[in-house]
Amino acid sequence: MIVRSQIVGCGSYLPERIVTNDEIATFLDTSDEWITARTGIRQRHIAAEGEYTSDLAFNAADGALRNAGIRACEVDMIVVATTTPDKTFPATATRVQAMLGAEGGPAFDLQAVCTGFIYGLAVADSFIRLGQVDTAIVIGAETMSRLLDWEDRNTCVLFGDGAGAVVLKSNNHHGASGSGGRENLPRGILSTHLHSDGRFGDLLHVDGGPSSTGTVGTLQMSGREVFRHAVANLADVLEEALAANEMTPADIDWVVPHQANKRIIDGTMRKLGLGDDRVIVTIERHANTSAASIPLALDEAVRDGRIQPGQILLMEAMGGGMTWGAGLARW
Ligand code: UT7
Repeated sequence: MIVRSQIVGCGSYLPERIVTNDEIATFLDTSDEWITARTGIRQRHIAAEGEYTSDLAFNAADGALRNAGIRACEVDMIVVATTTPDKTFPATATRVQAMLGAEGGPAFDLQAVCTGFIYGLAVADSFIRLGQVDTAIVIGAETMSRLLDWEDRNTCVLFGDGAGAVVLKSNNHHGASGSGGRENLPRGILSTHLHSDGRFGDLLHVDGGPSSTGTVGTLQMSGREVFRHAVANLADVLEEALAANEMTPADIDWVVPHQANKRIIDGTMRKLGLGDDRVIVTIERHANTSAASIPLALDEAVRDGRIQPGQILLMEAMGGGMTWGAGLARW
């Protein structure tokens, strides 16, 4: 018998306010043409004053629980991947736990910036496979707008706010070995692959924090360098994920990538030799929502019927740290 964590529900939430490229061009030396051509972004959602990461996370988690048909009291563990917590402490996850009415189990934040959702998935999957918990929620939630210098056109046009969540549940497979073709693979997370390289931390960072400056700081990025790392690291980790599962790109039904730049997504798909009809893209409407981008894209494609039970999904992300990672799942 093998234990898998199956994704049994997903949900997402976007703040009401939409800011278009044209609106940004009214107060910054930029244009819709530049932003669209270089990034694929046309608009982003921005949280309202008084609307916090925990509010976004709660709405996404509540939607995921409803979608799964699971009550909050059945949730054993809550992981919030975020780089924009409500407060330095306590963890945003504990606030979400209280809002949901789930009590007693571990609730903690996880910081891997844009790779946070893949890291969160890996952690929850490990807890479930070890038998420490039965049901977990993994949430990616961000209010990136609060970390931006709205006078820096190199960065502020790239990010947006939002949240996405999945519910994972332990699933016992009697006699399933995982071998003998993809139809025999159990549903759930098949593998996760995490990496980081702290030597390149300065390429994408926030220049503040409680222990260094005592301020929140703003996001700083060497865009071209980060782009270069993204292309190389993502290619490596995708190869690693496929090899670990004895798969080729042809086995993948959907690539669900982190949404940082449409050109990075296009490069990844070219590398895999897969067409545009096999990738979930939301960047034009959501921009880069950091840890929230993958579960936001997942939820959209599940709700509109593109992602179907039994299909193989390849998720990948990279971000500040540098961090990068991938996860393969049978839906
Ligand atoms: O989620 C975490 C991972 N993050 C990423 O993966 C982001 C990776 N990097 C990128 O997506 C791209 O590097 C950017 C979209 C950030 C920038 O695109 P680029 O093609 O690498 O442009 P660049 O940085 O080389 O800048 C080209 C020019 C510069 O002008 P000069 O110096 O050539 O005169 C910039 O000042 O474009 C200028 N520029 C802008 N112009 C109009 C930069 N931002 C803007 C802007 N509007 N918003």
